[in-house]
Amino acid sequence: MTTIMITGASRGLGLEFARQFYSEECRVIATCRNPKKANELNAIGDIDVHSLDVTDDKSVANLADKLRGENIDILINNAGVIGQRDGFGRLDYDIWAETMDTNVFGPMRVAEAFRDNVMNSEKKQMIFITSRMGSITEAVPNAYVYRSSKAALNMAVKCLSAELDQQGLIAVLFHPGHVQTDMGGQAAPVTPQKSIEGMKNQIVALTHDDNGRFLSYDGHQIPW
Ligand SMILES: NC(=O)c1ccc[n+]([C@@H]2O[C@H](COP(=O)([O-])OP(=O)(O)OC[C@H]3O[C@@H](n4cnc5c(N)ncnc54)[C@H](OP(=O)(O)O)[C@@H]3O)[C@@H](O)[C@H]2O)c1
Repeated sequence: MTTIMITGASRGLGLEFARQFYSEECRVIATCRNPKKANELNAIGDIDVHSLDVTDDKSVANLADKLRGENIDILINNAGVIGQRDGFGRLDYDIWAETMDTNVFGPMRVAEAFRDNVMNSEKKQMIFITSRMGSITEAVPNAYVYRSSKAALNMAVKCLSAELDQQGLIAVLFHPGHVQTDMGGQAAPVTPQKSIEGMKNQIVALTHDDNGRFLSYDGHQIPW
């Protein structure tokens, strides 16, 4: 049975990842900051729900200790924040630092802590939910904080994909589309169901040749 671990599964895309992989009969390890308040997640069925704040070293280390020796085929680093939508002239450096902590250091902390769980598994996949707003090729002057955090994540994952390539890691960055979640807003064009279905169908078919790619939920490759 394929084991999937998801960060930020309390709502939005993480919750939908948990729902769809559970319905595919995978073992789902869903993580979130407040498991007691994650009613929709707890209602999915027979999944493991654990507490995990990706900005908190102790929280990450505690869960890594708990899950030591368990194989994780697919680690989905999904948790993220928008930070600040304002641009140049109104930048808040405390918010920028917090956003980097969640969107860049968070997924890398989790990747380091759960490296052995993934690398000892059959599939050896680490999925990182980024955004095409992190594409330098497509940059426009807004959302400096969010865009720079996702561009930095892209670089960190590109390094990681090369670092563990010979050991068989498949690290892939996905843009989920502009999706109807708390972050994306209800006017967004893509439903969480469609976004996750698109990514899930690609994830189950990934091969080692995909290591280090930056893909969209609809299968397109995104320019760095
Ligand atoms: N929606 C879009 O249009 C869109 C587009 C491109 C990329 N993305 C990316 O997709 C991912 C999911 O976004 P979403 O749209 O589902 O956003 P969302 O609805 O705002 O949900 C964000 C999730 O991240 C969790 N989270 C935030 N900080 C965390 C932390 N420190 N530790 C653990 N979990 C934390 C939240 O948990 P709490 O419930 O505890 O706050 C929540 O579960 C993000 O990486 C985002 O950047 C989204």
